[in-house]
Amino acid sequence: MAGVSDKIFRQLCKEYGADVLTTEFVSAEGIFRRNERTREYLDFDEIERPIGVQLFGADAKHMAEAARQVIEWVQPDFIDLNFGCPVNKVVSKNGGSALLKDCPTLSSVAEAVVRAVAPLPVTAKIRVGWDANSINAVRVARILVEQGIAAITVHGRTREQGYSGAADWNVIAQVATAVPIPVIGNGDLSGPTEVAKRRQETRIAGVMIGRAAMSAPWIFRQTKQYLSTGNISEPPDLSEKWELILRHCQLAVRRWGAEEPAIRSMRARLMAYSKGFPASKLLREKFQHVSTLSDVNAIARQHLQTAFESAAAVAT
Ligand SMILES: Cc1cc2nc3c(=O)[nH]c(=O)nc-3n(C[C@H](O)[C@H](O)[C@H](O)COP(=O)(O)O)c2cc1C
Repeated sequence: MAGVSDKIFRQLCKEYGADVLTTEFVSAEGIFRRNERTREYLDFDEIERPIGVQLFGADAKHMAEAARQVIEWVQPDFIDLNFGCPVNKVVSKNGGSALLKDCPTLSSVAEAVVRAVAPLPVTAKIRVGWDANSINAVRVARILVEQGIAAITVHGRTREQGYSGAADWNVIAQVATAVPIPVIGNGDLSGPTEVAKRRQETRIAGVMIGRAAMSAPWIFRQTKQYLSTGNISEPPDLSEKWELILRHCQLAVRRWGAEEPAIRSMRARLMAYSKGFPASKLLREKFQHVSTLSDVNAIARQHLQTAFESAAAVAT
């Protein structure tokens, strides 16, 4: 997830059991520029393997050359092609989900990149279609298979939906039965029982979890445990959650090399973490103003103290 799945967050998810990671997406042109930003997008540690670099773009030659350069530069385990991004800035240049309504270009991009990086696998991320009147994920998936794509992730929404409405798991199921390669289902998965249900109802080979991990990265651990034992483990208790949040903040400060911009950049992440916390509305208000580690520490201490006192009051 752009702006979310940086190296720090990916590694936290990995600690909590995520099996396969992907970088934030980068354009082919971004790769050619090789500036600090690109370097950051492509930066990962060995511990993150297997990891893919996600590329977007609509020019087959550029995409092939960019993929070759990425492999030479950082040696990822696979290249992932983004055919799902709904953002205007990307779509207006014919990138991301725009290619769902331009199958010849989508096909040529996939073909060129697969050829350029063979034998390294190339995967693709798609949406179910451009809009409700042009749901074409099965057709797109068949084209991608023909071009040698190794696995496909289907986000069950159209471009038109953005992130609203519900993911259409019927279309995901259709894709999973239509193609002979692994299909990974994505969209609105919020916990272990839901993942189990989708796996039972469809022939997907795996699932991708996005937004739910932003507030609960332990979702991977809980899900894997549920799938293997049938038991749902408790989420971490409040103090473990705060430990994770504080560690995330410390790692961000270390990576930025400057405390205030790092903590300010963490505000949205802190808001996400506070989802489901007691008194989360109050927490969100406080998070809007944090700019140092000690601000976050003070909020954590006070929040834990209040939670402890309320629990003690209930117990007596
Ligand atoms: C902030 C944000 C950034 C995203 N960036 C990307 C991206 O760079 N590449 C991508 O394939 N999907 C991206 N997505 C889409 C997610 O990967 C996922 O398909 C979508 O959120 C639906 O899954 P979920 O309901 O589990 O979140 C992004 C989503 C969000 C919310």
